[in-house]
Amino acid sequence: MMYMSVIIGTPLQSSAFKVLLLGSGELGKEVVISLQRLGVEVHAADRYDRAPAMQVAHFSYTLNMANAEELKQLIQQVKPHLIIPEIEAIATEVLVEVEQQNIATVIPSAKAVNLTMNREGIRRLAAEELGLPTSAYRFADSLDSFRAACDDIGYPNFVKPVMSSSGKGQSRVKNFDEVDAAWEYAQTGGRVNQGTVIVEAQIDFDFEITLLTVRAKNAETGEIETQYCDPIGHRQDAGDYVESWQPQAMTAAALEESKRIAHKVTTALGGCGIFGVELFIKGDKVWFSEVSPRPHDTGLVTLASQFQSEFELHARAILGLPVNTTRHSMAASAVIYAGVDDLNLSFSGLNLALVHPDTDLRLFGKPEGFKRRRMGVATARAETTDQARELAQQTAAQISIHQN
Ligand SMILES: Nc1ncnc2c1ncn2[C@@H]1O[C@H](COP(=O)(O)OP(=O)(O)O)[C@@H](O)[C@H]1O
Ligand SMILES: [Mg+2]
Repeated sequence: MMYMSVIIGTPLQSSAFKVLLLGSGELGKEVVISLQRLGVEVHAADRYDRAPAMQVAHFSYTLNMANAEELKQLIQQVKPHLIIPEIEAIATEVLVEVEQQNIATVIPSAKAVNLTMNREGIRRLAAEELGLPTSAYRFADSLDSFRAACDDIGYPNFVKPVMSSSGKGQSRVKNFDEVDAAWEYAQTGGRVNQGTVIVEAQIDFDFEITLLTVRAKNAETGEIETQYCDPIGHRQDAGDYVESWQPQAMTAAALEESKRIAHKVTTALGGCGIFGVELFIKGDKVWFSEVSPRPHDTGLVTLASQFQSEFELHARAILGLPVNTTRHSMAASAVIYAGVDDLNLSFSGLNLALVHPDTDLRLFGKPEGFKRRRMGVATARAETTDQARELAQQTAAQISIHQN
């Protein structure tokens, strides 16, 4: 006996099954495309016009999603069945209310979104409640307590505003002389002017991975089950991912421990959907770093490596549908940066980039470029991940960006 799952109506008509996406970047764009293919009516919001996911949604809205009143109003207007927070800078108290009053389902859960938007929430859950291995850490909310925290943790250490992502305001502090500058820098890089930072001891890892973990309903029983994609290796530069590959080779013991950690943290966060669990690996030893309750940028590689990309997995899981995390190829992704600060950019060299049959491209369509803004990604398949990495890099390098 199959359990009753979601009923999908017709978009733009009264029966429509509606999803509201909060944050409309390149990851959201792929999620929207996956939802569109399943007949979902998609509403996309962001703080600027013509954001990538807006360009493929049925409706779009430009607002300040960190403003509770503006966000409430939008939810009342759209009346979505599901709300997908795609970024962290959202008035999450509104999402808690929406979930409590059964106005809509928050993906994966209001608790998950709330805890992961703040490094303190997720770190205390992982290390103190769940007992997962992490780097040693301290929190500080003043220059004095920060100096003491650095002293305590030692050097080198990593400093991150608790309300920040993608490397903003983060630094690696090598010695006492760099402490005051790191504090100043952290104060300018946070999302909100809140001031609290985490100081983390440096983990001397062999490599780091993203373990994409999906919580999806079993097609027959309706019970939520946890499934894993093959581990994704990646290279970070200044807090931003520059290339990723799948699978990352690792010991059986490290993989098992990675899954144990991912299972524990995603079960605690709850709901259905994909999670990007970031882990540091040294031999058989694994440390939990952080988790995003949504598709992960390093997971763009799954567009080339899996039958269902992380975006399709997410779309299916949140609709209560079965998923398949099987990988069919070795693959890699390489990021394409704007390299300039300008609007209205043009891209050439696509013919050269795509001449190899095992390569592909995504150009995100962002209305404005910044030197270090991700404008696209190249993917490649090959016999080995090393070859795939090389091919993805070559493919990305063929793209030239022009100002108009
Ligand atoms: N404690 C640490 N030890 C070693 N490397 C770290 C540590 N913390 C962060 N890093 C490096 O910095 C990157 C970004 O840190 P992360 O906490 O993931 O921030 P973000 O939320 O911006 O992705 C990590 O992927 C890793 O390469
Ligand atoms: Mg990270």
